[in-house]
Amino acid sequence: MHLPRFSIFAVVTLFILLDFVHGFSNNKVIDSQTLAEDIRSDRTITVDADGNGDFKSVQAAIDHIPNRNSKWIMIHISKGIYREKVKIPRSKPYIFMRGEGSGMTTIVWSRSSADDYESASFKVEAKNFIAYGITFKNAAPTGIDRTKQNKAVAVVVGADKAAFYHCSFISNHNTLFDARGRHYYGGCYVQGSVDVIFGHGQSMFHECEVFVVPNLKSEIKGSITASHKQRGNTTGGFALVKSKVYGVDNVYLGRAKGTHSTVVFADTYLSKSVVSHGWTDWSYPHSKENLLLAEYNCHGPGSSSSNRTEWSKQLSYEEALRFITVDFINGKDWLPAWL
Ligand SMILES: *[C@@H]1O[C@H](CO)[C@@H](O)[C@H](O)[C@H]1NC(C)=O
Ligand SMILES: *[C@@H]1O[C@H](CO)[C@@H](O)[C@H](O)[C@H]1NC(C)=O
Repeated sequence: MHLPRFSIFAVVTLFILLDFVHGFSNNKVIDSQTLAEDIRSDRTITVDADGNGDFKSVQAAIDHIPNRNSKWIMIHISKGIYREKVKIPRSKPYIFMRGEGSGMTTIVWSRSSADDYESASFKVEAKNFIAYGITFKNAAPTGIDRTKQNKAVAVVVGADKAAFYHCSFISNHNTLFDARGRHYYGGCYVQGSVDVIFGHGQSMFHECEVFVVPNLKSEIKGSITASHKQRGNTTGGFALVKSKVYGVDNVYLGRAKGTHSTVVFADTYLSKSVVSHGWTDWSYPHSKENLLLAEYNCHGPGSSSSNRTEWSKQLSYEEALRFITVDFINGKDWLPAWL
């Protein structure tokens, strides 16, 4: 086909304009087929609650994978509600769990406990894990219960190199236990009240949404983050980049937990749900000298820095730089895709 020169020019110009309208950095969406190609997974196990797959339960599919698995295996989970507690043990790395969309494929259990780990609906303890399009939920009752039996974790991420794309994490108390290792959350939705994201992990949340629900289980105002980082020379810390915080109750951006707690909110929308003080030292009697609880270039009605606690920081671009790209989690070395 011979297109006249002018039309080629017009088409190219149109594409450049469209690209511009959508913003150069916001036009990428991570899709599960590309992910599967990138990791070269050539084996798929199917799970279907109605019995039309290889297995009816997610745990049965995981149990079927041999120990010391060394090649990516995809577990496709059809839409449906899977009422089970699921655990991927350390011996089973290279699992890619793909659902049919957040809110469509749901893994849910209801358990509250004094122990975070024990309460969790889903635990991953194997390195090299990917989840795509799945809702993970702990549906433990949300009534008033001011006891220590109030932890209701949706997910524990307890190993290095885990990535979640377009997933949802839903609970009312201690939602996402980002326990250890480096992790990436792209386009995810996280709902909770107290310690929504907590643990020793070193993680990046890119274009995620945090929805704040009322906290009925303790008298304190909740915090979105509680970073347990204890030493300057170890990994740890959370970066929320180009994300959104909103909801139906008030919340702190984070609380001091470990002596080197590290959390940065960057280029993120903060609604009125964020209290003006920003950060809290509730139950933290230690020195604030080594904390890095900070914001960079946030916007929205909750982003004003005028009443922020004096031990939090507003970063310059140079200071924020190591938190706002996937280099923060050495992502270019191990992530199949990122935004
Ligand atoms: C890290 O620092 C602590 C003291 O804060 C020290 O005890 C430990 O040995 C250090 N670890 C490494 C790997 O340097
Ligand atoms: C500033 O923060 C303090 C401590 O949380 C709070 O009591 C006060 O109401 C805040 N001031 C404004 C103007 O929001």
